[in-house]
Amino acid sequence: MTEPSTGTVAAANRETATLGDPITLPCGHTLRNRIAKPSMAEAMGGRHGRPGERLTNLYTRWAGSGAGLLLTGNVMIDRRSLGEPGDVVIEDDRDLEALSAWAAAAKSGGASAIVQLNHPGRQTLASVSKEVVAPSAVRPRVKGARFPKPRELTGDEIEQIVQRFATAAEICVRAGFDGVQIHGAHGYLVSQFLSPLANLRTDQWGGDPERRRRFLIEVVRATRAAIGPDRILSVKLNSADFQRGGFSEQESIDAIRALEGESVDLLEISGGTYSSAAMVGASKAAAKDAGKASTRAREAYFMAFAERARKEVSMPLMITGGLRSAAAMNEALAAGIDLIGVARPLTLEPDLPKRLIADPTTASQLHRVRTGLSFLDGAAEIVWHNRQMRRMARGLDPDPQIDGKLGLVRTLLRGRVIPRRRRGG
Ligand SMILES: Cc1cc2nc3c(=O)[nH]c(=O)nc-3n(C[C@H](O)[C@H](O)[C@H](O)COP(=O)(O)O)c2cc1C
Repeated sequence: MTEPSTGTVAAANRETATLGDPITLPCGHTLRNRIAKPSMAEAMGGRHGRPGERLTNLYTRWAGSGAGLLLTGNVMIDRRSLGEPGDVVIEDDRDLEALSAWAAAAKSGGASAIVQLNHPGRQTLASVSKEVVAPSAVRPRVKGARFPKPRELTGDEIEQIVQRFATAAEICVRAGFDGVQIHGAHGYLVSQFLSPLANLRTDQWGGDPERRRRFLIEVVRATRAAIGPDRILSVKLNSADFQRGGFSEQESIDAIRALEGESVDLLEISGGTYSSAAMVGASKAAAKDAGKASTRAREAYFMAFAERARKEVSMPLMITGGLRSAAAMNEALAAGIDLIGVARPLTLEPDLPKRLIADPTTASQLHRVRTGLSFLDGAAEIVWHNRQMRRMARGLDPDPQIDGKLGLVRTLLRGRVIPRRRRGG
């Protein structure tokens, strides 16, 4: 195993930390507490993927949440390849001023803020992206949605995409963000490179686990070089893809060990893809695994895996997925996890982090969105959370009474549901 070059700062008070304690990341940046708002795609970019007033309003609201770290929804690095309509895109510094306003809004309450950078690869629709490219020409299999067959990337194109991550990252920190996160989870391009089902290459970018993770490592290296040593560089990674023959827990552990030597400040653990939506707790395979791993009813979807990762590396770890009560969050901290991601509850209860820190008996009041037709629940949930974000962007409070079924029908009628159907970002 590579001698860890990161994480020692965090390790000092690990296991006795509470939610309100600050943490200094290996790059030297201190987060004021242990609660993070993970990425949730806002779909609020303006024409040409420019961030605007709606995003600054929404992040001004979350700036008052009490969270220590705010991650933006995924931002694209190539306007030819979008995850969904309304994605923000950073290819060059033409929108520096707008990005600076977004950063300033997010940081206005004392939280740190980083941008999640993403390339969707094959997980996009022809109606959304001019170019559907992937490590190999393999179509994703997603029940109920027909994705186009992607074109296999050339070696030169792969190197250009690595550079695009770095360019976008440099612009983010120039705009005032505290760093970036590389989206390596949920079946998007980085995750496609990691997957033996999506990456059938036999060149330097595929063929065995080490070559399949090369893209991730190259993106991390180029990004670190672009942002300098003292900005936050985070990676979001799947514990597994939860598909037979897909990226496995062992491959994920090996990737995490490889990242330990690469000056990563924070590894966020999630799981799943559009085909098996474990990230939002909607994967049967993931549920089965969790059941096997522990007889205790656990809120945190990926806790068993995070505990395994904790034993392998010393870099700061963040866990996201299912956490709702301060009790479970403190339990995760006691198990050596450094940061707690709380996503969906923050669209309904934007002040939740403050309350979780102030009172260890606090728990989110969020309920899953149920339509009565379980195969529609995932889509209805995404639409519901997006509507709450849109309310806050308009200066309104979230509305717990929003009807999940109705929202989905409206979105279906507008023809927007397929790209979002099972997505958890
Ligand atoms: C509306 C919505 C959009 C999302 N967009 C993203 C995204 O852009 N990037 C990402 O990594 N995860 C995305 N996610 C997944 C969340 O970051 C998180 O992993 C998931 O919601 C589980 O955490 P929770 O149980 O605290 O909500 C999204 C989730 C939702 C509900």
